[in-house]
Amino acid sequence: MNSSSSASMQNELDPDRMPKHVAIIMDGNGRWAKKRLLNRINGHEKGAETVRTIVRTARKLDIAVLTLYAFSTENWQRPQPEVSGLMLLLRRFLEAERQTLVDNGIRLNTIGQTDRLPQAVRDKLAAVMTDTAANTRMVLNLALSYGARAEIVDMVRQMATAASQGTLDPASVTAETVAGHLYTRGMPDVDLLIRTSGEMRLSNFLLWQIAYSELCFTPTLWPDFGEAEFVRILKDYQSRDRRFGRVPSTGRP
Ligand code: IPE
Ligand code: IPE
Ligand code: MG
Repeated sequence: MNSSSSASMQNELDPDRMPKHVAIIMDGNGRWAKKRLLNRINGHEKGAETVRTIVRTARKLDIAVLTLYAFSTENWQRPQPEVSGLMLLLRRFLEAERQTLVDNGIRLNTIGQTDRLPQAVRDKLAAVMTDTAANTRMVLNLALSYGARAEIVDMVRQMATAASQGTLDPASVTAETVAGHLYTRGMPDVDLLIRTSGEMRLSNFLLWQIAYSELCFTPTLWPDFGEAEFVRILKDYQSRDRRFGRVPSTGRP
């Protein structure tokens, strides 16, 4: 992006009201391809280009954590060629983006049952995570083989084990204890959740972490999503009054 459009982007948005954590359900690749009589994998390829754009935009805007839902626990049930195609695309994405992540201070992290991913993908993920481990400007959190219910089950198992071993006192468990046993431990709660493609459901994404998130559903298919719409959504987010159950922060006393 050139510096003038970058400057106008910054003028439009209030840096003090930027969400710390943005999560996106990147949906609609298949329908994008179908509309063009293409293969679903072509839709995923185009979707990977949108990922590149949005990662760069989020970094430029100083968003601290960007969580992208790339593959759900349920997505394993898709036809085998589509699953393999997605795994190959993921490897290619990691190879192509490695240097950009390093150069831009972005740390790669994953959430989900990543032990279910093919070894070649796990190796690539581990290499890029090592290369970017010291980066502090932004966390790019890829949800891979992710399901919120599986995350909650894992959390309960860990805490129950600790309790049975006497290292966790059940009476002392708080919301913070629970958050500390989720895949997102140490990260702020999601401020803004975006889903593309017009579907109004969560599809097993981040159930605990979105308790007070602002929600945005756009009909745009993920391959057609871009910087301009992302900035518009952020601007709309900044105009919302997040009350967290309290009375309005502006207006009458
Ligand atoms: C989102 O696009 C990408 C993944 C779930 C991996 P879809 O593949 O779900 O696209 P639609 O919903 O069929 O259009
Ligand atoms: C959710 O999209 C998962 C990802 C975006 C990775 P899906 O396309 O799998 O969700 P459903 O089937 O429409 O609920
Ligand atoms: Mg879908």
